[in-house]
Amino acid sequence: LFARPWRFLTSVADIRQLPDIGSLEIAFAGRSNVGKSSLINALTGQKALARTSNTPGRTQMLNFFGAEGAAVTIVDMPGYGYAEAPKGMVDAWTDLIFAYLRGRPTLRRVFLLIDSRHGLKSNDLEAMQLLDKAAVVYQVVLTKADKIKPGQLDRLVVDTAKALAKRPAAHPEILVTSSEKNTGIDSLRAAIAVLVNG
Ligand code: GTP
Ligand code: MG
Repeated sequence: LFARPWRFLTSVADIRQLPDIGSLEIAFAGRSNVGKSSLINALTGQKALARTSNTPGRTQMLNFFGAEGAAVTIVDMPGYGYAEAPKGMVDAWTDLIFAYLRGRPTLRRVFLLIDSRHGLKSNDLEAMQLLDKAAVVYQVVLTKADKIKPGQLDRLVVDTAKALAKRPAAHPEILVTSSEKNTGIDSLRAAIAVLVNG
């Protein structure tokens, strides 16, 4: 699946412009700057597929990526919780993100990215609540694992698992990744392969 070349398909700024229902979709969601676009690049082995930046708020639309013969479309989402952006923009992104997550029939799983240094925040809990309500399965990915000590990471995994245990749509397996060091990427690929093939 990830040996083939992936390409950009389309960008959507307004929920009314979503592409027609087609193949399965998986989405990468999470707070601004958590590493969504970087993880998509690591996953596909294509450094410049999704645009990344040091500055939060880089991804401002829903970006769809596909590959010839792949039975899945990857969706890169704007981040939520970017407090510094103008309120009008933040509201528009939040509406777009939540409308897509709530109402997309082909959305098979959401990878919910959490920065390993910060853990779950209140807006992550809001996103989880929405996904629980909509019965969309989400799987937590702890990102930027290279930034914290192994002991801290172990504790974070335990705490996060506890927080997920009571949530109806949460997938129980937590993934730990570093796009920088390329760790955990094979596990993420395997999780996606199971979704697409199984
Ligand atoms: P928005 O689109 O703005 O919401 O951000 P995003 O979640 O797409 O994050 P992006 O991939 O643009 O990465 C944000 C910053 O974090 C960039 O400077 C990346 O280089 C950095 N980054 C992403 N993943 C990792 C990682 O695994 N380790 C480290 N150390 N830095 C990372
Ligand atoms: Mg991005």
